[in-house]
Amino acid sequence: MRLSRFSLALSSSLLSVTLSQAAIVSQVSDIPNNIKFDFIIIGGGNSGNVVANRLSENPKVQVLVLEAGPSHEGVLVAEVPFFATELVQPSPYEWNYTTTPQPGLAGRSIAYPRGHILGGCSITNWLVYTRGSNEDFDRYAKVSGDQGWSWKGILPYFKKSEKWSLPADGHNITGQFDPTMHGYKGEVAVSLPGYGTPIDQRVLQATSQMGGDYKFNLDYNSGNQLGISWAQTTIDGSERASSASSYLAPKFLARKNLWVAVNAQVSRVIQSGGGPVPAFRTVEFRQRSGGPLKTLTAKQEVILSAGTVGTPHILLNSGIGNAKTLKAIGVKPLVDLPDVGQNMHDHPVLGNPWLVNSTNTFETLRRDTQLADDAITQWQVNKTGPLVNTILDHIGFVRLNKKLVPKPDTAAGPTTPHYEMIISNGIPPAPAPPAGNFLVLTTIVVSPSSRGSVTLRSKNPFDSPVIDPGLLKTNFDKLVMREAVKGVTKFVSAPAWSGYVIGPAGAFADATNDTALDAYIANNSGTLFHPVGTASFSAKGAKTGVTDPDLTVKKVAGLRVVDVSVLPYVPSAHTQAAAYAIGERASDLIKKAYKL
Ligand SMILES: Cc1cc2nc3c(=O)[nH]c(=O)nc-3n(C[C@H](O)[C@H](O)[C@H](O)COP(=O)(O)OP(=O)(O)OC[C@H]3O[C@@H](n4cnc5c(N)ncnc54)[C@H](O)[C@@H]3O)c2cc1C
Ligand SMILES: *[C@@H]1O[C@H](CO)[C@@H](O)[C@H](O)[C@H]1NC(C)=O
Ligand SMILES: *[C@@H]1O[C@H](CO)[C@@H](O)[C@H](O)[C@H]1NC(C)=O
Ligand SMILES: *[C@@H]1O[C@H](CO)[C@@H](O)[C@H](O)[C@H]1NC(C)=O
Ligand SMILES: *[C@@H]1O[C@H](CO)[C@@H](O)[C@H](O)[C@H]1NC(C)=O
Ligand SMILES: *[C@@H]1O[C@H](CO)[C@@H](O)[C@H](O)[C@H]1NC(C)=O
Ligand SMILES: *[C@@H]1O[C@H](CO)[C@@H](O)[C@H](O)[C@H]1NC(C)=O
Repeated sequence: MRLSRFSLALSSSLLSVTLSQAAIVSQVSDIPNNIKFDFIIIGGGNSGNVVANRLSENPKVQVLVLEAGPSHEGVLVAEVPFFATELVQPSPYEWNYTTTPQPGLAGRSIAYPRGHILGGCSITNWLVYTRGSNEDFDRYAKVSGDQGWSWKGILPYFKKSEKWSLPADGHNITGQFDPTMHGYKGEVAVSLPGYGTPIDQRVLQATSQMGGDYKFNLDYNSGNQLGISWAQTTIDGSERASSASSYLAPKFLARKNLWVAVNAQVSRVIQSGGGPVPAFRTVEFRQRSGGPLKTLTAKQEVILSAGTVGTPHILLNSGIGNAKTLKAIGVKPLVDLPDVGQNMHDHPVLGNPWLVNSTNTFETLRRDTQLADDAITQWQVNKTGPLVNTILDHIGFVRLNKKLVPKPDTAAGPTTPHYEMIISNGIPPAPAPPAGNFLVLTTIVVSPSSRGSVTLRSKNPFDSPVIDPGLLKTNFDKLVMREAVKGVTKFVSAPAWSGYVIGPAGAFADATNDTALDAYIANNSGTLFHPVGTASFSAKGAKTGVTDPDLTVKKVAGLRVVDVSVLPYVPSAHTQAAAYAIGERASDLIKKAYKL
């Protein structure tokens, strides 16, 4: 893989001088040793930075964030929305993980990108903002016994984090979203596409021609997801909005009680006190590039926000997990919590390309040097043009035909989708293939039944963990993907596409019966990067699960998990909206627990 010409051109022509923030330190030796931190947050990612912001609202509370990756400041490829897909390529900004061979993917091991930068995956994601169905959240409330996780309970937190914004082209957005379902005073900008594509009108025509599963839905973030809607993305005018650019904006970093250390890699939490339950308030860490181990102890709590891979990895390194398997690998078991790292699941994804009779697609922009240079200049100078958008303008959520749904149905309820379709004016990830112009309908299994795990490779805490997301492992997930491909094929048969779509392209064109389709799916599917579940919450007192409904780790004191690893089921949606809402609700739970 390589960085595309776009990002190279950008970093050389636009590198600007960035003012360093006093509160971001890049050497662990620069963390002040005269401050007693009340809260130490492990991982300055999507959720972690929300907690850092909210807890440091109280000037008496001392907060420290330890982030393994570098600072986000001046990373231009992370600011231009259209370059979003390039951040999965090997770089200092992701962890360079690979999965175990995946039986559901024809035995392939695939790259498994996770953000390794201040902002975490909110900096490396593809900007799509989707919350899930109301039933997804009502199921969380049911399994945890905590109404705070219900749709009604969580909606105020979605709104609290959100700053609904106008698109870069300033077009009239009436009729493209439901204004009652959004927040206007939060931190993270969410907006509609700011540069129309030539297929937008065809998509809308097709929704009215097809109706039914493909009807137009005013707003997929209203709790009712089914149908095809205008996409909402975390874009602020022309730029990516992330947890780092928003919750750690300069006005917040100016707080004297908020400290952020980048390049600080945590190895373990250490037991630091007896009592009836063991307390884990001490954090062990070192400079990411190597060096001596250091420790710091939080007065109140350690907040684990290292993500679905990082959080269970740190818990297991600390002796918190399945006592038997920990012992077998040489880690002293301290707290027997067998579900740490289990229940990992993710959204399988497949891009389905059709050749089109047009040159006005992403491919041309990506291949034509002059066009690309003009687009960069336009983005830079006028903050408009094709680079202000990510790789889609419309998204649909669909349920399988009733007769096809295997029992038990893993969707959260009767109005929760089984699959998602993303409609793109070209192949979503760069670079473009040498020839052809495409319409791509990406299919995603959003209510998967497969489960995998994150486990230790060795007792060395700096070894990468063993990652098995279990993609397309079950017949249920395979069936949903097969039906999803048939579903989008039907959508493309709408009259709106005639004269535009020439026909299916590449290996997709040969997948003309179920056997061939299954092989095509296994050969070409991957991850949409939405793993959850490795520190699942369950009801208080439950024998299964890792965290209580207030996200404190079971059987220990002083330790809480705040990231999407706590979700026992993946929402039928992309996961960053949930990461922000979890951060917001957890902050309120912590404030309440400590009367802050
Ligand atoms: C390529 C990609 C595309 C995606 N696209 C979308 C999308 O379009 N829309 C959407 O909603 N979601 C998307 N997602 C998923 C979404 O971004 C994540 O689910 C969400 O951001 C996760 O938030 P988090 O707080 O749980 O974890 P993260 O944001 O991953 O934060 C964890 C942080 O902890 C740090 N960390 C980990 N281990 C350690 C350690 N040992 N010591 C110190 N720090 C550590 C990491 O470096 C990271 O910064 C995408 C994800 C990826 C990777
Ligand atoms: C990424 O990991 C692979 C092994 O999976 C290794 O060969 C490679 O050097 C790593 N790359 C970086 C940039 O660390
Ligand atoms: C936007 O469109 C709506 C409905 O199409 C219309 O009622 C409204 O006046 C328009 N607003 C502006 C500012 O043009
Ligand atoms: C493409 O469209 C043009 C008209 O716009 C038509 O003349 C031509 O035949 C089409 N080509 C294909 C391959 O459909
Ligand atoms: C910026 O916008 C102005 C006014 O619309 C236009 O004249 C100019 O060409 C644009 N510049 C670029 C670099 O796109
Ligand atoms: C299914 O399609 C493949 C590829 O086109 C073909 O080789 C195979 O014979 C077909 N199988 C059946 C049962 O039709
Ligand atoms: C799947 O990949 C294998 C190995 O590369 C190849 O032999 C086979 O033809 C592929 N099948 C399909 C349907 O793409």
